[in-house]
Amino acid sequence: MDWGMKNRLSRIIKTDTNRTVMLAVDHGYFLGPTNKLEDARATIEPLLPYADALMLTRGILRTSVDPGEDIPIVLRVSGGSSIIGKDLSNEAITTCMEEAARLNVSAVALSIFIGTDYEHQTLCNLSTLVDQAQPYGIPVLAVTAVGKELGKRDVRFLSLSCRIAAELGASFVKTYYCDEFEKIVESCPIPIVIAGGPKLDTELDALEMAKDAVEKGAVGVDMGRNIWQSPHPVAMIKAVRAVVHQKMPPKKALQVFEQNK
Ligand code: 5RP
Repeated sequence: MDWGMKNRLSRIIKTDTNRTVMLAVDHGYFLGPTNKLEDARATIEPLLPYADALMLTRGILRTSVDPGEDIPIVLRVSGGSSIIGKDLSNEAITTCMEEAARLNVSAVALSIFIGTDYEHQTLCNLSTLVDQAQPYGIPVLAVTAVGKELGKRDVRFLSLSCRIAAELGASFVKTYYCDEFEKIVESCPIPIVIAGGPKLDTELDALEMAKDAVEKGAVGVDMGRNIWQSPHPVAMIKAVRAVVHQKMPPKKALQVFEQNK
């Protein structure tokens, strides 16, 4: 791997623990003003000191993050559909690599929609993006999207999606946690981070999920709603960090949450 590519990745996946707590705030790219992300700056700013990287679109980056912040940016560069449109999976590459370089990003992110009418298109998007990002030394994060069908989050579907992402040249992949998660890790030669998915009932549920994922081989989380839809987002990200970086048991990390509320 080229020096620039390695350097950018090591800003996201921390070299001391080989783990990462990425903060995902890109939801508006197809959901519009998501609950608790309506004022993106107000949500993002207090969490920045505790995030290893920030995943978002160029619009929210420019409008809602101070350029003086020292935070690696993972720029979402796919989109083109909305939650009320015909098909969420009909995505294109929406941001060019010159723009990514101009924004000094540490990685670019794009969704693939395996098993949908737009499987071919989104996989070709991934290949094209890898070709475009490679000359700049910019890593590509592939997101194994499931569209509206959250039920598709099983080991068979997610291992297929992660492996294809790796085969097409992604540097790392973001997927969901599921039963037998270790099988996804075993057959995927690139690092895996998990999305949190919709807000779970309790903070402990989200902490347990993060712990199970890293224990079974994920390098960390790229979590959104389970952090910033918590009534105490800063306390929650601190607890997630304790689980991911310090291998703290979830019940003990819940005390971190309680103490920081
Ligand atoms: C959508 C995404 C989101 O960033 C992702 O779902 C992570 O956020 P959350 O933890 O809220 O699920 O990539 O395709």
